[in-house]
Amino acid sequence: MTRTNGKKTISVIGLGVVGLTTAVGFALKGHKVIGIDIDPEKVRKINEGTCPIFEEGLSCALKEVNLIATADHRQALDTDITFLCGGTPPKADGSIDLFFLEEPAKQLRAVLKEKIGDHLVVVRSTVVPGTTEKVIVPVLNHNEHVGICVNPEFLREGTAVEDFMKPSRIVIGEKENKWGDMLADVYKDYNAPIMRTDFSTAEMIKQASNAYLATRVSFINEIGNICKSMGMDVYEVAKGMGLDARIGKDYLNAGIGFGGFCLPKDLSALISSAKDANYRAGILEEVQRLNINQPVRMLTLLKKHIPVLKGATIGILGLAFKADTDDIRKSKAIEIIHALQEEGAKVTAYDPQAMPNFRKVFPDSVKYATADEVLNADAVMILTEWDEFNNLDYRGKIVIDGRRVLKAREARIYEGICW
Ligand code: UDX
Repeated sequence: MTRTNGKKTISVIGLGVVGLTTAVGFALKGHKVIGIDIDPEKVRKINEGTCPIFEEGLSCALKEVNLIATADHRQALDTDITFLCGGTPPKADGSIDLFFLEEPAKQLRAVLKEKIGDHLVVVRSTVVPGTTEKVIVPVLNHNEHVGICVNPEFLREGTAVEDFMKPSRIVIGEKENKWGDMLADVYKDYNAPIMRTDFSTAEMIKQASNAYLATRVSFINEIGNICKSMGMDVYEVAKGMGLDARIGKDYLNAGIGFGGFCLPKDLSALISSAKDANYRAGILEEVQRLNINQPVRMLTLLKKHIPVLKGATIGILGLAFKADTDDIRKSKAIEIIHALQEEGAKVTAYDPQAMPNFRKVFPDSVKYATADEVLNADAVMILTEWDEFNNLDYRGKIVIDGRRVLKAREARIYEGICW
């Protein structure tokens, strides 16, 4: 039901980083928002004003807004617009699992049978081109009162709320103007260009954006690998490249490669959907191959100084896939620790935020310790660029740095992965 001040009543289904940020962000903009999630613990925490995930901006913003959370999908009935924000995790073959998008859409269809008046359903989850048309449209079985739009998110973990409030662009995929207009109206007071297009193009804009960011990271990693073998500093090279406005400076930090929930799986999904369309995405396959190979380089550099890992203790600084998050999904630390353990090394590890999550994957085989204890290992690998790693005393140590922590250069032996 539209509120008298022109604001909409919005429901958001799926309260992960994307859904919760979307819900909180719209609430900050003055809309009435109901968050829906099947996890009762998450619902309870949100209603208490506690953020169920480590996301600094989100924790603060949640306290400022009046967001109501519920596990009851029927609550969507009293809203004008429902955003579907379920996760789309990867399957073994590289394609994505649509369960958390399809299932809420089915529940919504049942609820909307009772709806009197218009209702807009927005697909916000990241999907491969064609998904909304082929999967969501048939599930919703919509009539003239139920509209569908696609509205991809471009939110980075760690800065999700800021990215939501100050987006670079708003992309709306639509079939009929009426529904695109309704969604554009929700975004009318954002200072960002609104691009309106069809469903598949909107879906592809998201996929191509993440594939491009992944490509930049693998590209600079490749240049870094070349620079290291030629005795140059890739960060100086990237600085010079970034001064060209056509190139820009972002996503040119060379290191152990990209992790996280989105870039790796979106890249795989795009490669896989291109294959389904009988196209071999050669560049993207190579981006992926390079990304798998960067952790192997870390091991090679370590073995230059500790040739036999069996029985050695290796300290790991950083377990999160990047700084300012506790997320360890597709973190390079997982691959590297598995490889170290396969060679018989003992692992001690420290991360300011991600140790509880990491413990779920490595409950016993990793010794969790303080940063100072980690520095007592036979050698130390830096895998996340936490600021606090710039305050440690590396003197006398062997350090293999995957993230360019400048202070670590004081180590007795220092090796950067690409520098
Ligand atoms: C990404 C996209 O940026 C965002 O738009 C999308 O909606 C969700 O996926 P996120 O997963 O939070 O966001 O991570 P991002 O900040 O993009 O970093 C991805 C990975 O690339 C991290 O592992 C990071 O360490 C790595 N990275 C990034 C580099 O190695 N070098 C860089 O220069 C930038």
